[in-house]
Amino acid sequence: MNQAIDTYCESLKLSTIQSEWRTLTEEASKNNIPYHALLERILEIENQARIERSRQTLLKLSRLPFRKTLDTFDFDRVKGVSRRDIEEYMSLSFIEQNQNLVFLGPPGVGKTHLAVSIALEAIRKGLKTYFMTAQELVTSLQTADSQGKLDKKMRGLAKPSLLLIDEMGYLNLSNNGGHYLFQVTSRRYENSSIILTSNKTFSQWGEVLGDGIIATAILDRLLHHSRVFSIDGPSYRMNEKGTN
Ligand SMILES: Nc1ncnc2c1ncn2[C@@H]1O[C@H](COP(=O)(O)OP(=O)(O)OP(=O)(O)O)[C@@H](O)[C@H]1O
Ligand SMILES: [Mg+2]
Repeated sequence: MNQAIDTYCESLKLSTIQSEWRTLTEEASKNNIPYHALLERILEIENQARIERSRQTLLKLSRLPFRKTLDTFDFDRVKGVSRRDIEEYMSLSFIEQNQNLVFLGPPGVGKTHLAVSIALEAIRKGLKTYFMTAQELVTSLQTADSQGKLDKKMRGLAKPSLLLIDEMGYLNLSNNGGHYLFQVTSRRYENSSIILTSNKTFSQWGEVLGDGIIATAILDRLLHHSRVFSIDGPSYRMNEKGTN
């Protein structure tokens, strides 16, 4: 019965309606639900399913290292950032305004956790987000360059509404790293947002990149429209080991 509905659903790719319409129409006739309310409900479930699918795709493409939110973040452990500060960023207006966010601080104080929390909110709101460590970013651009595909890679890195560059400073990027990092910050400057985390102070970036001039040029662009949180506190990782 009603094979035509399934056929239309298939050709229009309305998979949720296809699986739900029988139950919904039966319930509607049992409960005397008006036609327009039934139609609304049918369209609503398909719409919700699509939003959920696109979130799942964005989440997968984002390459986030873990999924943690503010609910599990203990602000009492850290100095230099408050729940209120981060909640302000959860509105994501900084992305609309193409501003950047920088988390500085020693290991284990929650820099990546906070960056990921904001990224998850961006994904929930349907924004394309991409996570990379500074090392991965540099290596992928180096590889693309050696294959004559630097332009394409750069275009790809310009696309996400939010780019997370994690762990700037742990590994030495002096082998041309500054050159590639400069291109990314320059490309995204005033066009899209970056959240960056680093264990190094800005004055140490010259050392990390092996080039003080390029470090200054990168920082100039990154920090022009930005907020910097210098976080301090004991490492949470040590706490979990029970040594803190
Ligand atoms: N204040 C906190 N409340 C709850 N969990 C925390 C807090 N700080 C850190 N963590 C947890 O501890 C672990 C390490 O945190 P995170 O990776 O964010 O540290 P980080 O500052 O990025 O360190 P690193 O510089 O070594 O990368 C994660 O599992 C994170 O969820
Ligand atoms: Mg980290």
